[in-house]
Amino acid sequence: MAPSDEAFSLVIFGASGDLTHRKLVPALWTLFASRTLPEPFTILCTARTPMSDDAFRAKLKEGVKEFARFKLPNDQVWQRFAANVFYLPGDPTAPEFYGVLRQRLEELERARGGPRSRLYYLSTPPSLYADIVVNLGKAGLNEEESGWTRIIIEKPFGHDLSSAQELNRLVTKVFREEQVYRIDHYLGKETVQNVLALRFANGIFEPLWNRNHVAEVQCTVAETVGVEGRGGYYEESGALRDMIQNHLLQIVCLVAMEPPVTFDADAVRDEKSKVMKAVRPIEPDAVEASALRAQYGPGFVNNRQVPGYRQEKGVKPESTTETYAALRLLIDNWRWAGVPFYLQTGKRLAKRVSEIVIRFHRTPHMIFRRGLVSVDPNLLVIRIQPDEGISLIVEAKEPGPDLKISPVTLDFKYHEVFGGEPPEAYERLLLDAIHGDATLYARGDWIEQAWRLTQPILDHWATTPGPLPEYEAGSWGPTEADAFIARNGGKWRRP
Ligand SMILES: NC(=O)c1ccc[n+]([C@@H]2O[C@H](COP(=O)([O-])OP(=O)(O)OC[C@H]3O[C@@H](n4cnc5c(N)ncnc54)[C@H](OP(=O)(O)O)[C@@H]3O)[C@@H](O)[C@H]2O)c1
Repeated sequence: MAPSDEAFSLVIFGASGDLTHRKLVPALWTLFASRTLPEPFTILCTARTPMSDDAFRAKLKEGVKEFARFKLPNDQVWQRFAANVFYLPGDPTAPEFYGVLRQRLEELERARGGPRSRLYYLSTPPSLYADIVVNLGKAGLNEEESGWTRIIIEKPFGHDLSSAQELNRLVTKVFREEQVYRIDHYLGKETVQNVLALRFANGIFEPLWNRNHVAEVQCTVAETVGVEGRGGYYEESGALRDMIQNHLLQIVCLVAMEPPVTFDADAVRDEKSKVMKAVRPIEPDAVEASALRAQYGPGFVNNRQVPGYRQEKGVKPESTTETYAALRLLIDNWRWAGVPFYLQTGKRLAKRVSEIVIRFHRTPHMIFRRGLVSVDPNLLVIRIQPDEGISLIVEAKEPGPDLKISPVTLDFKYHEVFGGEPPEAYERLLLDAIHGDATLYARGDWIEQAWRLTQPILDHWATTPGPLPEYEAGSWGPTEADAFIARNGGKWRRP
């Protein structure tokens, strides 16, 4: 194939790991097989484990067979893809490795032709991000010679506010902000993007999308899995860091932001940053009222008996790391004043589901005779996963001589309308980074705002002794969560 202006190289660090195997390469393969990946391309993977190109490709093929959305049609197509994938063993913390990396990259780029556009992907443990960025800079691999140079940084971006600030400082000394793509794979999910389509491609919702009509917003990310053998990792993280500081706050911003002037990276990210500025800070003495944490105990999930968190491998028996967290936020601006935003996430809950629920005010006056009918408020439910779609729950009269009113659901199911599985988040996000579109990536200032908001909670929890409230594995979380939301008259929706 003749070299094109779109030619690019992707360099993956930590490529012997789980993310490359399960997500990145299956996504790249699907893009290639569906003819959306720009060509010609070079994928240079690196990690410390010694492997030949062929051994590495064989390992990737297994991952593609198991995890890719686009199944392997025949070996010929796979061979065409795999011929562009290479493996270079080396230690990413050793500055001398970057000379070898540069040489191999230049060799491959010369053979391929086209501009030297390069995308680096940091898929190593987060403790290595700073070293890799500094080493790339020292080796001049941050420079833009005949093409563009960009870098994708995996989550988590920092462990707290000061480490995130330090990482931002280091990264932006080596790369310009426009070159930096901080990934939050939730933003790549089709239904998360559908929040924007729902709000800004329809005229009927915008007049209702404010304090005059919305009583409360709930955002839930519930998982049935536990720590899956990664107890040691989770002990350092917890539900607030793992889910709320990044994914759930991003979702809040998409729900709450003002219409951006255009759908481009700066316009969208400016609006999200304005939401974060308007979120009322959680003062240290207000943490108990605004946040709740708990841990799962033993129980049954999908009819299987499972241990409690403190009995998991790698977890301290006296651990106070939260596996469930809930947060109540207020957004002090014209649109949302007084509307509580409730966020909750947990492991080992009753069902795997992520959804956004907009609860509208009740009707101002009930014309039907009280006692005979109870009318629930309308809900708009945006399901992020599984069974992606949007439901509007309205009240309707049941057939019959009596006036009986019940909730009915107007349902849009993604797979029923569009068929097939929605694209994987990593497909969209990788393609966007290759095309230079950072709209669905987090900007440095947003990341720091999100840490600034959550830091007082982390600090308070770090100094408050356990034990934490416990919930039974397989339940909908701690009983305290019901009281937490009931303070404002609300009730968690149980999907
Ligand atoms: N896995 C997921 O589903 C997922 C989801 C969201 C975000 N992430 C993030 O993505 C990144 C990668 O995830 P992962 O699950 O693939 O991670 P991983 O398996 O823990 O690490 C990736 C690779 O990094 C290399 N590595 C580990 N320790 C190293 C060290 N001290 N020095 C040099 N290299 C080292 C290892 O390769 P060698 O031993 O061969 O060098 C390992 O295979 C992480 O930051 C994670 O937080 C992962």
